[in-house]
Amino acid sequence: MIEVTNVSRSFKEKKTVIDAVKDLSFTISKGEVVGLLGENGAGKTTLLRMISTMLEPTDGQIFINGIDIHKEPMKIKRSIGVLFGSETGLYDRLTARENLAYFAKLYGLGSHETKNRIDYLAARFGMKEFLDRKVGGFSKGMRQKVTIARTLIHDPDVILLDEPTTGLDITSANMFRELIHQLKKEGKTIIFSSHIMEEVKQLCESIIMIHKGQMVFEGHIEQLYKEEESTDLNYIFMSRLVRGNR
Ligand SMILES: Nc1ncnc2c1ncn2[C@@H]1O[C@H](COP(=O)(O)OP(=O)(O)OP(=O)(O)O)[C@@H](O)[C@H]1O
Ligand SMILES: [Mg+2]
Repeated sequence: MIEVTNVSRSFKEKKTVIDAVKDLSFTISKGEVVGLLGENGAGKTTLLRMISTMLEPTDGQIFINGIDIHKEPMKIKRSIGVLFGSETGLYDRLTARENLAYFAKLYGLGSHETKNRIDYLAARFGMKEFLDRKVGGFSKGMRQKVTIARTLIHDPDVILLDEPTTGLDITSANMFRELIHQLKKEGKTIIFSSHIMEEVKQLCESIIMIHKGQMVFEGHIEQLYKEEESTDLNYIFMSRLVRGNR
């Protein structure tokens, strides 16, 4: 379970202050898949970075499974898997397998468990053919698969994905969507940001919509459809943004 209470984050740039996230509160239950929507610069990545413990809020608190993550980050790190679309964090000079083994080690996995996880994830993502090739020569989609595998290497309970399907072809994106279903069945808690409304519709029962750092909607997608008397998420999104925060 993730509990976000009155969380804000601002950045100082010279004399101006940028309020990237403003007073957000929400709760996500175990086993829930939540879509995070918002325009470029809305604060999605900032929010996910804070939930991942990478960035401290200026205000407010975040609890995961009852633990204040910024007070006791070490207690919770192993339960969180993160993927940030723009940065793969992979080492070009290592093979995919070596990269995954490296991250497994950072999380304290033993060699037997590491091997099992790598085999499982390689099969899952169709990575077997290039598992022993150096990442430096990989295509964008190949890298993204390794990055997703890296996110899941330690079998985390809470999974944070920032635009995870960017760069994937249709087959890989479908594979990814199937994986989300599987992870949900396993009781994982997942937040993922996306600009692809169809994807959000298919995968999430709940959404968080933010605009200029503020909450626009938080709750069940069905509730939103009811409120807006429409199931066209693109249309709803645009009209909510025009109307702003209510
Ligand atoms: N380290 C930083 N220093 C200064 N400003 C920042 C920093 N990180 C984020 N911001 C600002 O915070 C705001 C929110 O950025 P953020 O990256 O969270 O948006 P986003 O919703 O992820 O956008 P996108 O869809 O383009 O990825 C932007 O105005 C951005 O410039
Ligand atoms: Mg972003």
